[in-house]
Amino acid sequence: MCGISAVTGSEDIVAILYESILNLEYRGYDSCGLGVVGNGNVTVRKNTGGVEEVNRKEHLTKLKGKTGIAHTRWATHGKVSRENAHPHNSADGQFSIVHNGIINNYEDLRDELMAQGVVFKSETDTEVMAHLLEKTFQETGDIEQAFIQSVKRLEGSFAFCMVSARSQQTIYCVRQGSPLVLGLGTKSNFVASDVNAFLQHTRKALVLEDGEYATVTPDSVTVRKTADGSLVSRKPIRIEWDAETSRKGGYAHYMLKEIFEQPQTIRNALAATQEGVERIASQIRERRDTYMMGVGTTHYVAQAGQYFFSSLAGKYLPVVSSDEFVDLAVVGPQDMVMAISQSGETYDTRRGIAHAKDQGARTASIVNVMGSSLSMSTDEVIMQGSGPEICVVSTKAALAQMVILLRLALETGLQEGTLAAEQYDESYSHLKALPDTVTAVLNERSGFVRNLADKTVGYRNWLMLGRGIYYPMALEAALKLKEITYLHVEGMAAGFLKHGTLALVDEEMMSFFLVPTPEEKELNQHTISAIEEVKARKGPVIGIAFENDKRALKLLDHAIELPPTPPLVAPLLELVVAQLFSYFSALKLGRSIDKPRNLAKSVTVG
Ligand code: F6R
Repeated sequence: MCGISAVTGSEDIVAILYESILNLEYRGYDSCGLGVVGNGNVTVRKNTGGVEEVNRKEHLTKLKGKTGIAHTRWATHGKVSRENAHPHNSADGQFSIVHNGIINNYEDLRDELMAQGVVFKSETDTEVMAHLLEKTFQETGDIEQAFIQSVKRLEGSFAFCMVSARSQQTIYCVRQGSPLVLGLGTKSNFVASDVNAFLQHTRKALVLEDGEYATVTPDSVTVRKTADGSLVSRKPIRIEWDAETSRKGGYAHYMLKEIFEQPQTIRNALAATQEGVERIASQIRERRDTYMMGVGTTHYVAQAGQYFFSSLAGKYLPVVSSDEFVDLAVVGPQDMVMAISQSGETYDTRRGIAHAKDQGARTASIVNVMGSSLSMSTDEVIMQGSGPEICVVSTKAALAQMVILLRLALETGLQEGTLAAEQYDESYSHLKALPDTVTAVLNERSGFVRNLADKTVGYRNWLMLGRGIYYPMALEAALKLKEITYLHVEGMAAGFLKHGTLALVDEEMMSFFLVPTPEEKELNQHTISAIEEVKARKGPVIGIAFENDKRALKLLDHAIELPPTPPLVAPLLELVVAQLFSYFSALKLGRSIDKPRNLAKSVTVG
């Protein structure tokens, strides 16, 4: 959603603070600002636009100071405007805050403050906190008390960082439902929504938990419980990601870089905890039901997982999108709920897990971001180790999650006896060979994929079609294409097409098929029938097919040809190619690929 950051150090920290919100920009990018303490007040500069654009308008980097806060916004309450951008100051200019999350009772608090004569400058829920701080400080005369007492008046899910002209070198921060991590440096300390903000400076991090607040100076960090002020002692963790991985490294866009990193993310997913995989697999066997849950891309990842478990382990695992989970899933103590999430912070998924826990279910997760809420709150966790995913749309993280689900399904099949040891070994060898195949396909087919995207990008309406395991791949491919090109793309099961949607097919509706390998005889045959149905209605057809599939290659107007590939991993390879096709289509259209309009990487509000 939004990115918040704060830095305090023994030297000027403005360049570091500015860089920190550049690194967090993928969390939100409609406006941003910096607030720096000095000369008896907090100087705030902010405006609408991305971080570099605001810097050009407001000269953020010309500020000077040793302590400051920063914010990059994805609007929730109030339009995108300079007034609504953060930081927000109290009326006396003594307190300045940045906020991520939502304050549910802000209207009541706003009415109460207005009745006391406070004049609001913005439409945000955040601003109430700035004024509450000033009022509470007038009563208590103590900044920490003012901070905590103000926080206690707020209902909702939020994280705040606050600085004050009255305490020039201290950051006050609190976590209540939105992520917040402290970075422990030498002669400087950091607070941020996620570790990408400060990875260049330190990999030592302390993750705040919900209901905790911290006071941070250049050489000290104190964490306490918000409820009673009691001290919390927690060991810092070491973040294994390196700063270089979170830079673009010569690629035009993070999305392209992340697509090309996939051979390595597959290797990392294969190296993730085998004990964890075995434990979760045995739980899947023991539990009445294991629900899988994710939303957006991770919902499609979970759907792909469903096919893996059905085909390899003979087990049907229910999948419910996180946003519908509470209203639909029927879970109890005999069940397990497994969440899939890149960020580990997605509101809907966290809510689903909280609901599962309330019902007494066991919980598990597959997560990328270390120290994230889901990774810390589920009974079992598999860290997928994909490294920072900066592009707002997910590519490498999703593929790695699918690899982990394949591992889980293979392990469950082995334990269950639906897979013999030799079948398991053979399948595993196909997984191990996948990184090299992905590398070869990316290197050899990118030019063709780009040419095809250039040729077809004029079509405004698209169907993305697949059958069996290629169906969730088609759903995910459709999401990729629509979110970065803004074209209308519908993902659909190829067999479903003739039951209604075929009515839309004409010369102007492009159909993109994910064709199974010829070895998957029935699936392949049924998909080819669907291609024929579209062609018979004069619909243009393109797609991805394998070199040894003469029939599909003959039928498709244009085909991206892939080398013969074992059926177990063929759908994953096709997904990589579909990601690349989306990328080149968006490139041709001149879209904002890494930060598509209206989206945010980490959706931490409901
Ligand atoms: C789409 C995309 C989103 C996320 C979804 C869940 O490309 O990235 O649909 O998959 O918002 O996010 P995480 O995985 O962080 O829980």
